[in-house]
Amino acid sequence: MNHATVIVNITHPRDADLQKKSLWFSEQPGITLLTSSPKSLAGGAEEPPYPILHITRKGIYLEAGDHPLHFHPSMALLRVMQILRGEGDRFLEAVDLRAGDVFLDATLGLGTDALVAAAQVGAQGKVMGIEHSPILAALVKDGLRTLAQGDCPRVQNPDKAKAWQVLAEAAQRIEVLWGDHLELLAGYPAAFADVVYFDPMFRHTREKSASIRPLHEVANSCSLQGETIAEACRVAKRRVVLKERKASREFSRLGFEIQEGGNYSHVDYGIIHKEGAGS
Ligand SMILES: C[S@@+](CC[C@H](N)C(=O)[O-])C[C@H]1O[C@@H](n2cnc3c(N)ncnc32)[C@H](O)[C@@H]1O
Repeated sequence: MNHATVIVNITHPRDADLQKKSLWFSEQPGITLLTSSPKSLAGGAEEPPYPILHITRKGIYLEAGDHPLHFHPSMALLRVMQILRGEGDRFLEAVDLRAGDVFLDATLGLGTDALVAAAQVGAQGKVMGIEHSPILAALVKDGLRTLAQGDCPRVQNPDKAKAWQVLAEAAQRIEVLWGDHLELLAGYPAAFADVVYFDPMFRHTREKSASIRPLHEVANSCSLQGETIAEACRVAKRRVVLKERKASREFSRLGFEIQEGGNYSHVDYGIIHKEGAGS
């Protein structure tokens, strides 16, 4: 299992709320929090280059590599606004979720797709998100619980305000699980989830964009194993979905049928339909 050592920097060490946050992070599975020292924050020679978790009055972020990594539902917000306007979402077309579904996101990352899925399955549904990086899992879990508390910015635009409300409710339906997806999938009974989804880091390995770089520092970038897909097929009732680079060989290697559409997109979605599931 991928345990992580992280240095914690509390900007106002006497602030009880920030101390509480720090304690919460120290209790999350897989994480060892080291208290910051000026030397370690300056990259002192004695300390290995661990990521730094900054706990501030304005929010929490991880400094890994050159860029900050924080949980922010901005992309999910945009997508939910489009969905509420009746516009399509390729991810939703691929996963084909229905109200009340159980959706298992086996590569949670920053939780954008999980939030969109949680909005779609509604109050009776459930989303479980598996993330291999313990610090990423904790960062997203913290962000989701803050969002679920309705701690949203005040906005004038009624569509945006509605989307924030939808996201706050959706966040309450997401359970974040730290671990390796193969190990966790193997522990679920057959047909436990309606849909199992993978959006691996693998296709991003050569990507140099600033937005994805901090994720690289902490995320697992391995390719998917055939054994993992076999477990996902056992656990999924209706379908297993894979997001990958356009026309990627990963689809045929792992047995996915590419869904048509997205001519101008750089990604494709592949589907394995469960026999007799009628979808
Ligand atoms: C491209 S990101 C997913 C982005 C996500 N769909 C979103 O909307 O934010 C892929 C994530 O999968 C995680 N991951 C890769 N291999 C994993 C594994 N074996 N078990 C669990 N998570 C894994 C990575 O650590 C990374 O955070």
